[in-house]
Amino acid sequence: MRIYDIIRKKRDKEELTKEEIEFFVDRYSKGDIPDYQASALLMAIYLNKMNKQETAWLTEAMMNSGEVIDLSAINGVKVDKHSTGGVGDKTTITLAPLVAACGVPIAKMSGRGLGQTGGTLDKLESIPGFSIEMTAEKFIESVNNIKIAVCGQTASIAVADKKMYALRDVTATVDNISLIAASIMCKKLASGADAIVLDVKTGDGAFMKTLDQSFELAKEMVEIGTAMDRETIGIISDMDEPLGCAVGNALEVIEAIEALKGNGPTDFMNLCETLGAYMLVSSKIATDYEDGVRRINEALTSGEALEKFKEFVANQGGDPRVVDDYSLFGEANHIVEIKSDKTGFIDKIEAEAVGVSAMVLGAGRETKEDELDLSAGIILKKKVGDFVKEGDTLAIMHFNREEKFEDAKRRLKNAYIITEEKAEPKKLIYGVVTKDGISKF
Ligand code: URA
Repeated sequence: MRIYDIIRKKRDKEELTKEEIEFFVDRYSKGDIPDYQASALLMAIYLNKMNKQETAWLTEAMMNSGEVIDLSAINGVKVDKHSTGGVGDKTTITLAPLVAACGVPIAKMSGRGLGQTGGTLDKLESIPGFSIEMTAEKFIESVNNIKIAVCGQTASIAVADKKMYALRDVTATVDNISLIAASIMCKKLASGADAIVLDVKTGDGAFMKTLDQSFELAKEMVEIGTAMDRETIGIISDMDEPLGCAVGNALEVIEAIEALKGNGPTDFMNLCETLGAYMLVSSKIATDYEDGVRRINEALTSGEALEKFKEFVANQGGDPRVVDDYSLFGEANHIVEIKSDKTGFIDKIEAEAVGVSAMVLGAGRETKEDELDLSAGIILKKKVGDFVKEGDTLAIMHFNREEKFEDAKRRLKNAYIITEEKAEPKKLIYGVVTKDGISKF
């Protein structure tokens, strides 16, 4: 078999065989295929697409390119949740203890963030003492004992994905549905969960900017998961404005804790309720969606979810007193209110621009080597649909890097679009994709 022939076949819009796809993934991850030939194949896939069968074979080959974790020593149906990413997305920090309090074993491997804000691991590390380093034994023991552990994704998982993603990033081949679906699902499948709930974001701050693309991506991933015998559900949720009000690592953890106390912003609370209910359904703990919602709300109002969060933090070396004393996170040196220049209704808050503004302040990484400022970020005081008068506070910026402030402020102000007419309220959840089909709301 020759990589040249595989490239030519895809260039000529022919279907690749399982063996050809496995050959490419295996040889590329071992360094036997050079980047220029891998780039040519990725571009041919990008332009001429892969069908469902090819995408499934690609996912399987990528999953098998590294370690496949065995979580069978953990009792119960392990459910993983994945978000395709967005601005202000601190969902895992609220959702993991919430569903663990309902009895779902959460054995989560998370990543760091590149881009607007940190990933779940970066956010959790803003809790003093919290460690994401754990032996496999402690990870399994923790989930069996307290139902929850979150650790860093090991470098040995889906080795091919790391190389392919880095190459896609610099060859304009990221936003292809088959390549994204295979990249996400190979890691989820290798991480050992029995069921997977996917939060597929749509809109300005998401990978998928249109609803049609988002449904297509969700359908593709659900089909892959189902074919691999994992109960998989995709939820399409809005990412046109940032999720909740906090953007930035420690600020997002504080908002996630507030949500566990029942005081989170409405959009964030609703998303946690929806995702949580589907996680309970896929773990078979809830009989149906309504039963899931009821159990989620019980865990919140009884305080069990908050207690589970404290237990989880303490188990990983963190200081659980942060729940009652936010000053333990450490505050940024500068906290500045950003005022509106206009009177009117907030028509739009461009999620991506808010994310970039937070990144400029130090909340996110532009390159892998960048150091995060965990206390930096933005609190939105006005959300879409709110009325503001000139001089009202739109947002509060937290930062230490004074020299970045003017640039970040300009970006944040430009992200707010204020109009005379109040816009129609937008949906938070656009639909659900399961193995039985698509329901659009
Ligand atoms: N997230 C991933 O892990 N891979 C992609 O290709 C896109 C988003």
